[in-house]
Amino acid sequence: MSTELIKVTINGKDFQVPKGARLIDVCRENHFDIPSFCYYADLALQASCRMCLVRIEKMPKLQTSCTIICTDGMVVTTQSEEIEKAQRSMLEFLLANHPLDCPVCDRGGECELQELTFDWGNLEERFIETKNARPEKYLSPMVANDPQRCILCKRCTRVCDEWMGEDAIEAGNRGANTVIGTYGGWLNCSQCGNCIEVCPTGTLLDGTYRHQARPWELTQTVSTCNYCSDGCQMSLGSRGGELMRIVARDRYVNGLNGEFLCIKGRFGHPFVNHEKRIRTPLIRYNKGGKLIPATWDEAIRFAAQKLDAVVAVRGSDSLAVVGSPRLTNEALYCLRKFATEVIETANYAVADAFSLKPFFENLGGALATHHDIRHAKTIVLIGGEPEELQPLTGKQVRQAIRNGGAKLILINRVPIRLREQASQFIHVRPGTESAAVLALAGNADDGLVARKMGVEADELEQLRTTIRETQGDVIFMFGGELSADAQAVVAQLPYIFAGAGSRVLLHPLPLFNNSIGALDMEVAGQSVSVLLDAAGASVHAMYIAGSLLPAQLLNDNLSKLELLIVQELFETDTTAVADVVFPAASFAEIDGTYTNNDGFVQRLRKSIEPVNQSKPDWLIVSQLAKELGVDFGFELSASAVFREIADRITAYADLRYPLLKDESGPVQVKHKVVAKRDLAVEIAAIRRAVEGLTNDGAKVGETPQVGHELFKLGTLTDKVPQFHLLAAGNPTPETFAISPLYQITIDKELQREPVVA
Ligand code: SF4
Ligand code: SF4
Ligand code: SF4
Ligand code: FES
Repeated sequence: MSTELIKVTINGKDFQVPKGARLIDVCRENHFDIPSFCYYADLALQASCRMCLVRIEKMPKLQTSCTIICTDGMVVTTQSEEIEKAQRSMLEFLLANHPLDCPVCDRGGECELQELTFDWGNLEERFIETKNARPEKYLSPMVANDPQRCILCKRCTRVCDEWMGEDAIEAGNRGANTVIGTYGGWLNCSQCGNCIEVCPTGTLLDGTYRHQARPWELTQTVSTCNYCSDGCQMSLGSRGGELMRIVARDRYVNGLNGEFLCIKGRFGHPFVNHEKRIRTPLIRYNKGGKLIPATWDEAIRFAAQKLDAVVAVRGSDSLAVVGSPRLTNEALYCLRKFATEVIETANYAVADAFSLKPFFENLGGALATHHDIRHAKTIVLIGGEPEELQPLTGKQVRQAIRNGGAKLILINRVPIRLREQASQFIHVRPGTESAAVLALAGNADDGLVARKMGVEADELEQLRTTIRETQGDVIFMFGGELSADAQAVVAQLPYIFAGAGSRVLLHPLPLFNNSIGALDMEVAGQSVSVLLDAAGASVHAMYIAGSLLPAQLLNDNLSKLELLIVQELFETDTTAVADVVFPAASFAEIDGTYTNNDGFVQRLRKSIEPVNQSKPDWLIVSQLAKELGVDFGFELSASAVFREIADRITAYADLRYPLLKDESGPVQVKHKVVAKRDLAVEIAAIRRAVEGLTNDGAKVGETPQVGHELFKLGTLTDKVPQFHLLAAGNPTPETFAISPLYQITIDKELQREPVVA
């Protein structure tokens, strides 16, 4: 928007507003309430509800303020008898076919239609014609639908198109028979539920939570998602110690994601109160024997005595400590402290899918935030698939292209769905993504790079030209395909491409909610595979907090250990060979912080008391340390741990929980930016690796199905029955009238098993 200011008069008061500003936004920013249904900032205009009417001097009739751009000298009236009468009539029309069943509607109590109807008061129902009744139904395992409540504002269809790029839901039929739905009646989409979130009425509803609670019964707690590295802010709705639902609605939260969540964040929470959560500490007194329930005191004492014994005989380095990138900064910090200050072992690691250590060691510029991505002018994505693995980033990329005219350059072995939005797709052979980094560093190796990647040299020149000619921000994003040397070069690209008209920002795409925090807490001392390989040889005891991620890192060596201590939510392949198991509390039961891929450190807040006898991971580590004679002094709260983090870890210096209170203004940690480096060694290493690649590998031709990563069953999503249906191909049920979960049979051990499509 222009920086030039113009004068607008609203209800007799003068305002200076930026030229090009939209009237509805200007009115609202200046506290003149304008009712609306279809207007939604940052979505294409719909202008169908006509609730936002205003009178503008010299215009013949009332105008929709959502479609008006302010002009100099404009004189506007937002409140008058005439306007109120028109708005009241619009509402009366919207309610003409409405079932008026608020007492049984899941949205009742937080419905925009209900709220505006109350606001306008004494609305008379003058339409006495029979209503055009339509039955309630399901559109998918996640999305329930009551078509008669629809006011046709089309927020749902626009978010599906513009945020998700899926166009899965549309208005069908004509006139009074128009309904929102999908071809064939069954949604085969990414099941994000954003159409539910933005629906201002009870038309689209959370199918997993339907009829379970009324909104006013829920205690809302603002917290951070525990799945991917995007770190969406969300509101956890709990009742009586049970986590009932998760939403991102603006009225509770105003985080970096607005009203966006993906399927995992929104629907992936039923693991929290799942019946299979570990109930008590468990001890296996004899190898090969059973895990026996124990008290906390017994289990901590047993673990400490066994640990002491192994370390006394085998030495400190015979113990390896491994943390999951799903844990909080506080838990990971305590784990490292346990390794280095209690046991004094050099063997500690984080079990991540890939390490970003080389990237952060060479960081030559700022991390791009999600806001930066939305407003970037060129985005270069090397490897990765954000739509499936970091869906908020995927949405920001799509909106930057669609609403901001950004260019996307995709360098990928797979024609991922974002290819449709890309201005340039460099389709490379599998395993050659690091070669692209060589081309970004300069043109000296273009012939070699093009040959190995299976592309034309011109494509590489075009890539560099687009970046150089960009006026505005350039963002480099990358996935786990890059080698350590390539990561180091990407980290220095801001020095290579920084120009007059552009900032060059970086956005790594790690897989887990606290992959970056785990690096910051310096837990990634060793490679977890090296430690696992040493299990039973130089490593005789292991202390693992959280699952080993990803599962393929697990190996038989764990059973060769003299002592394995695990803290977990569920019994897993790891706990199956553990000697001591501590029940850990989930993200919904604890206070703490995660650091996302923007470098934002964001709060987790306790929504419910720890389930069963579970305890926060940081507290379990502290209690074990105390039993071994070292008092961390943290037993009072997670904020005490965070204070020590802020005192000892430079990037977190001076931070405190009270400074992280406002999720609408997240705090970016101060990752050290290093000076421009000579990259000759890394470039030579990449060149050698590229020379070793074949010239003729086959390319992947097919675009993967929506949900191929999102719907995969993991330890957590496995506990959500609806995910089983999706993982089985989302079979279209014979009837849409009842919950599609009827397709899941319950076997004699009361295990739910999905019917395979
Ligand atoms: S759940 Fe998401 S992808 Fe599916 S129809 Fe709704 S908005 Fe579109
Ligand atoms: S389903 Fe909801 S969001 Fe979609 S058009 Fe109807 S009222 Fe609007
Ligand atoms: S995009 Fe990532 S952080 Fe956001 S809701 Fe989905 S999994 Fe959670
Ligand atoms: S908000 Fe302006 S027409 Fe709907």
